[in-house]
Amino acid sequence: MKDLLDDIYANIGLSPERGGVATYIPELAKIDPHQFGMCVAAADGEVYTAGDAEVPFSIQSVSKVFALALALGKVGDQLWRRVGREPSGLSFNSLLLLEREDGIPRNPFINAGALIATDIYLAGSRPKEALGQLLRFVRAASDDEDIHINEMVARSEIATGHRNVALAHYLASFGNLHSGVDEVYGTYCHQCAIEMSCRQLALAGRFLIDTDDTPKLVSRERRRRIAALMMTCGHYDGSGDFAFRVGLPGKSGVGGGILAIAPGKASVAVWSPGLNRYGNSKLGTEAMEMFARKTGWSVFG
Ligand code: DON
Repeated sequence: MKDLLDDIYANIGLSPERGGVATYIPELAKIDPHQFGMCVAAADGEVYTAGDAEVPFSIQSVSKVFALALALGKVGDQLWRRVGREPSGLSFNSLLLLEREDGIPRNPFINAGALIATDIYLAGSRPKEALGQLLRFVRAASDDEDIHINEMVARSEIATGHRNVALAHYLASFGNLHSGVDEVYGTYCHQCAIEMSCRQLALAGRFLIDTDDTPKLVSRERRRRIAALMMTCGHYDGSGDFAFRVGLPGKSGVGGGILAIAPGKASVAVWSPGLNRYGNSKLGTEAMEMFARKTGWSVFG
């Protein structure tokens, strides 16, 4: 496994064609694109790394996996009254379907749906407490207390994220946000600004592997459903392409991170800040593609 990761780093991690970093969040525009890290946390507890696997990065939308698990823990299947389970075929921050579909976002991984998950885990508490709960979940999952929110990144997004503000107001106009727009939006931006290294992220994903040795933070049925949503919706309008090329449930973020799960085998994190046209890590996707091909771990055999 270590040889495979070194091979991926040498063949893909150093590639000159790296894609462009996200610029719509000013703090993320400052990130050096010449970074690449990868980590495999195997079901048996072994951890393998390559490249910049210890460097913390902004996990952004990868946080939506943990937020969904936390929100489901709070309200269970009632969550599905407020958000759907279908791919949207549109970009992560699209407003388009919300009007036609009466303020019910297609799935919990596009921004509109993620705002609902945030609203659910925020209910009944102050944003600081709710974020504390989310951090506790992520720290417990990775067995690492040294995971924090980057306040500069959160503020940078809060100040510029007009589309997300629009989405939040639109959801509120349909009665599908229960807390105030500013509170939900601020909490969501802080959630996205969690920083983790590939090592921490791969370890945090182990609760989704489902073996006797991995953390039991959610039930087996819930784990299976979260993985199904990662496969169908985890890369937005690039989800079909990711399933085609990689064949593993995965969740991307505009910070350039991807978390993928090989059920029963491993949790895999990769990070390279340059993005492809869907807003997903360009080299990260290529790395996952090579990883799945070499291991034969695609869920499609
Ligand atoms: O809401 C946003 O636009 C960002 N905080 C997160 C978006 C994101 O990570 C999309 N993923 N590729």
